[in-house]
Amino acid sequence: AQANIGVVGMAVMGSNLARNLASREGNTVAIFNRSFSKTQSVLDAHPEAGFIAAHDYQEFADSLQKPRAAIIMVKAGGPTDAVIEELVKVFEPGDIIVDGGNALFTDTIRREKAVRETGINFVGAGISGGEEGALLGPSIMPGGSDAAWEKLGPIFRSIAAIAEGEPCVTHVGHDGAGHFVKMVHNGIEYADMQLIAEAYDLIRRGTGKSPAEIAEIFAEWNKGELESYLIEITAEVLRQVDAKTGKPLVDVIVDQAGAKGTGAWTVQTALDLGIPVSGIAEAVFARSLSSKPAQRAAASALPGPDEKFVVADPDAFVEDVRQALYASKIIAYSQGFDEIVAGAEQYGWDIKKGEIAKIWRGGCIIRARFLNRITEAYAENPGLVALVTAPFFAEVVTSTQAAWRRVVVAAAQAGIPSPAFSSSLAYYDGLRADRLPAALVQGQRDFFGAHTYKRVDAEGTFHTLWSGDRTEIEAEDTH
Ligand code: 6PG
Repeated sequence: AQANIGVVGMAVMGSNLARNLASREGNTVAIFNRSFSKTQSVLDAHPEAGFIAAHDYQEFADSLQKPRAAIIMVKAGGPTDAVIEELVKVFEPGDIIVDGGNALFTDTIRREKAVRETGINFVGAGISGGEEGALLGPSIMPGGSDAAWEKLGPIFRSIAAIAEGEPCVTHVGHDGAGHFVKMVHNGIEYADMQLIAEAYDLIRRGTGKSPAEIAEIFAEWNKGELESYLIEITAEVLRQVDAKTGKPLVDVIVDQAGAKGTGAWTVQTALDLGIPVSGIAEAVFARSLSSKPAQRAAASALPGPDEKFVVADPDAFVEDVRQALYASKIIAYSQGFDEIVAGAEQYGWDIKKGEIAKIWRGGCIIRARFLNRITEAYAENPGLVALVTAPFFAEVVTSTQAAWRRVVVAAAQAGIPSPAFSSSLAYYDGLRADRLPAALVQGQRDFFGAHTYKRVDAEGTFHTLWSGDRTEIEAEDTH
């Protein structure tokens, strides 16, 4: 056996990760794919990698040094289960199986438990950074046991992206913790993308600027506090001209956004945990709405505002949108971290928030300059209950809120949908409110269902005899 690490699945993410591993000092990489023709084309295209190719699972296992370690890079769901089943047959106690796909964290918890019973370690590892990240350095979010981390740590550290001298990988927590955090990463990714898309739409429709001109605005923003991978690639996409028609590419792409499920999982999980990730939810729903052509066609004759939307001062408007984007983005991260905290509590994971912000600084899709600020915020106050209240972020929302409000007002008046901007602002106002109309909701619940309420001025639980004489009685707490 010559290889110290193996990769199963030779689609682009798998082959790029295998090439990344092979390019690092000391690694010899075994590769396997269900159909050998794919393995062969990877071998042919990358002789420099020195891959050891296997034709079947037994040969794959035999080519790996013990304790064996293999990373699965296949489709989430059934295909992942099928590969695990085969690997378990040829691996031995002490070996390590890593799932590097976008698995649902509850699947990872289930798989980890089942595989552990055989004595083999199972590690669900979130890997972010797309094709290029896999090849040059992703951000890696592994879960699994401490024993598995001991062996995998050095390997992962060798292939991860480097941010400020530190590899973007940390042992997130046990069993499904890594995939949970990757899921939330993707939820934030959805929110960030939607916010950027809303900013583009508002600027385009408000100022009449062309996509190429807006690309320059994004490129400019990327030099400041908004600096991030998603802003950078947005400029690239907006600059792109379609060869066929000579139009901006963005104008010939069908405006129906796809999704593979991780954003929806983030929201479903948040609903179960009772965490308001409203910005992320709106981003997921915005994709769903875009992908309903029949409903959109039927509604296209419905009226919008009477007046045409023209902003008086385009430069000032663009600056307002920039600030609204910054504030809303902080809310998306704040909500995402709330979900991580709640998940960690629910599933018993010891997740270090500051470490998560650190490993998101490089390699991953949501990498951004301001993640350093999140790390600092959690370092200063590990018990921080809402990221947005940390001094740095509180200062940002204080200084941007006027612009944020103007943008949301303008969007509403102009009839331009800005669900992520406006829901983020509503969340912010909800969070900072002295009193919420939730008091009235409690009154309504008590009226029709005797669901009871608490009083601001007394201990205990109360119910008003709504259908009787409307006096108040002490009651059992029914929530
Ligand atoms: C990443 C990405 C990656 C992928 C997602 C998004 O972190 O590298 O999040 O995992 O792009 O699958 O997918 P959808 O937008 O198709 O849901």
